[in-house]
Amino acid sequence: MSTTISSPQLERIPVNISDDPAELSRLVAMEISDLIRERKSRGENVVLGLPTGSTPIGVYHELVRMHREDGLSFVNVITFNLDEYYPMQPDSLQSYHRFMRENFFDHVDVPEENIHIPRGDIEPSEVDDHCAEYERLIQQAGGIDLIMLGIGRSGHIGFNEPGSHPEDRTRLIVLDEITRKDAASDFFEEKYVPQAAITMGVGTILESRRIILMATGEHKAPIIKRAVEEPESSDVSATYLQRHPNAIVYLDKAVASELTHEKTPWCIGSVKWDDDLAKRAVIWLARKTGKAIAELDVSDFHRNHLHELVHAYGDTDELCQSILENLREKIHYRNQLPTEQRIIVFSPHPDDDVISMGGMLAKLVVNDNEIVVAYMTNGSVAVFDQDVRRHLRFSQMVREDIFHECDDDGAVSSILEFLGRKKPAQVDTDEVQRIKAYIRYTEAVAAIEIVGLGVENARFLDLPFYKTGRVRKDPVSQADIDIIVDLLNEIVPEHIFVAGDLSDPHGTHRMCYGAVEQALEVYNRDVADDHPKPKIWLYRGAWQEWEIDRVDVFVPLSKADLDRKIEAVFKHESQKDRALFPGAYDEREFWQRARDRNRETAEKLDELGLPRFYAVEAYVTVDEMP
Ligand code: F6R
Repeated sequence: MSTTISSPQLERIPVNISDDPAELSRLVAMEISDLIRERKSRGENVVLGLPTGSTPIGVYHELVRMHREDGLSFVNVITFNLDEYYPMQPDSLQSYHRFMRENFFDHVDVPEENIHIPRGDIEPSEVDDHCAEYERLIQQAGGIDLIMLGIGRSGHIGFNEPGSHPEDRTRLIVLDEITRKDAASDFFEEKYVPQAAITMGVGTILESRRIILMATGEHKAPIIKRAVEEPESSDVSATYLQRHPNAIVYLDKAVASELTHEKTPWCIGSVKWDDDLAKRAVIWLARKTGKAIAELDVSDFHRNHLHELVHAYGDTDELCQSILENLREKIHYRNQLPTEQRIIVFSPHPDDDVISMGGMLAKLVVNDNEIVVAYMTNGSVAVFDQDVRRHLRFSQMVREDIFHECDDDGAVSSILEFLGRKKPAQVDTDEVQRIKAYIRYTEAVAAIEIVGLGVENARFLDLPFYKTGRVRKDPVSQADIDIIVDLLNEIVPEHIFVAGDLSDPHGTHRMCYGAVEQALEVYNRDVADDHPKPKIWLYRGAWQEWEIDRVDVFVPLSKADLDRKIEAVFKHESQKDRALFPGAYDEREFWQRARDRNRETAEKLDELGLPRFYAVEAYVTVDEMP
C-alpha cells in the first residue's frame, strides 16, 4: 500500500493520494484521534466539523474501532455537522441525524449535549434564527478545530452549491440538479429528494483551523481536477479551500486520475519512464496531435513536453512501431478467445453481463465453453413498483385462467394494497423485494437466451450484503464470501470474468469485486494444488471503459454482433426507457451507452492506426486481482 504526497506546481492545495480508499480512511481517522488525544492530555476539548455521505463512512468505522479496541474516548469532543436536508424528519431513512447515529454516535461516547446537527424538522419561519444560532454555538465552542469534508459532483462542500461565496454562513440553500440526481438512489427516486438543505456556509468552513477534504472514485475525478488545479470560482465551492493555509485533500487513485500529475505527468516535470508510461504517453501524443501512431514524428515529441521520452528511448520511430505492434497483438478474434473451457461470469447486477460483455459472451458460447453466469445481487432496488403491479396482475390472470387457482388467501391483493399505501422512499416488504428480484431474474434469463445460453447457465447468488432493501448496503460478510467460494469449488473455472470497477468503494460493483477477491483468496489457497488458478478477466460496468493503454484484450464486434448484444440488453425491460438509477447528466439508456462505448473504442483504435472495426469490447486480464 503506498501513499504519495504530491506538490507539483499545478496543484493549488496539498494533495495526498493513496492506492487504497481504506488507507485514506485510516489516515484521516488517525489525524482525528491524534488531535483528540493531544487535547485530552492538556485537559481541553476538541471541536470537529463532520460530514455525512458515503465518503466518510470508512473514517467513522475506523474511529468506532479505535474506541472499542484502543480505548479512544470522545468525551472531550464537540461536533457540528455540516448539513441536513430540508425538510427532513430526524428519524427518516435519509436524515443526516439518523445517519450520524447509525454510523457514529450510537457507537462512541460523544456526550449527547456536545452533538450539533442542523434541524430539518423546523418551520420555514424558524430557519433563519436556527442558522444564526448554529453559527453562535460554533463560536461559543471556540470555533472548529478540524473539519472533514466530502465533495459532491457539483463541486459542493457541505451543501454549498454553485453560486456560493466565501463569505457565506449557515443558511438554507436550494440543491443543485446534479446533487439531487446523485441523491436519488437514497430516496429511491429523484422526485422524492428534497429541494433544499440547511448547510454551514463556505465562510463557516473556511474559519476551521484544519480542513480535510476526502474524495474517492473516478466519477468525481473531473470535479477534483477543477477544485485542485483551477482558479477559485463560485462555480465550484471547493476551489475556495485553496485560500486556506491548512487544508489538505485526501484522494484515492481513481479520483486522482484526472489530475495532471497522474494523467500526463510529463507535462509538468520530470518522470521516471518505463514501457507502460511510454505507451500511455505515445497514445496521448497521437490523440493530441490527431495523428496515427505510425505518423508521429520526433518533432511531435519535442513540441509536446516529451523531450525526456526521446532521450530515454532514443529512436522514437522504433518506440512507435513497438507500441503499435503491442496494441495489434491485443486484438483477439474469436479463435483466440477461450475454447471448451469452464467459465464463470460474475455479474454484479442482473444486466451487467450483457451490457458490458454481451459480445464476448456470444463468442464464448460459439467456442463451446461451459459457462455459468453468476448474478451476484438481485437488483431488486432498481425496479419500479409499477412493474410489480403489472407482473402480479399477469400472474393472477395466468393462475386463474390457465391453472384455475384463485387468490383465496388474498395474497396478491394484500401486496397490491401495500403498494397502494406505500410512502415515498419507504422500504419494500420482503415479499415485494423478492418479486422485484424475480422480475430481474426472468429478464436476465431472457437476455442470455439471446446470446445462446439458457436458464441452466444462470445462477442467482442473491448475496446477503445487498438485501437491505435500501441503496446503502451492509458490508460484505463471510456469508457472501462462502456463497462465492462454493460456486468456485463446484465449477472449478479456468476463467472468471469480473466487473473491474475500481471506483466508488461503497458502490455495489466495488463491493462485488471485493467479495470475489476475498473468495478467490480462499479458493486459490485450498485448491491450488489440484487446479490452476483461474485467469481473471476484468470488464468495466455501464459507466466507463478501460483506457486504451491499459487494455489487454480487444474483442472486435461486427454490426451483427453489436445488434445481438443490444437485443440482449433490451430484455432488461425494467431498466429500459427510464431506469431508476440512470446516473446524473447521462440521459442515455444502458443499451445506448454500451453501443456508444464499444463504437468509441473502435474509433479510437482506428485513429491510432489499427484496423478499423465496427465496435470493440475491451478487457484487462490479470493473474491476481489488483
Ligand atoms: C454531506 C455533505 C456533502 C457530501 C458530498 C459527497 O454531509 O456535506 O458535501 O460530503 O455530497 O457525498 P458522498 O460522500 O456521498 O459522495
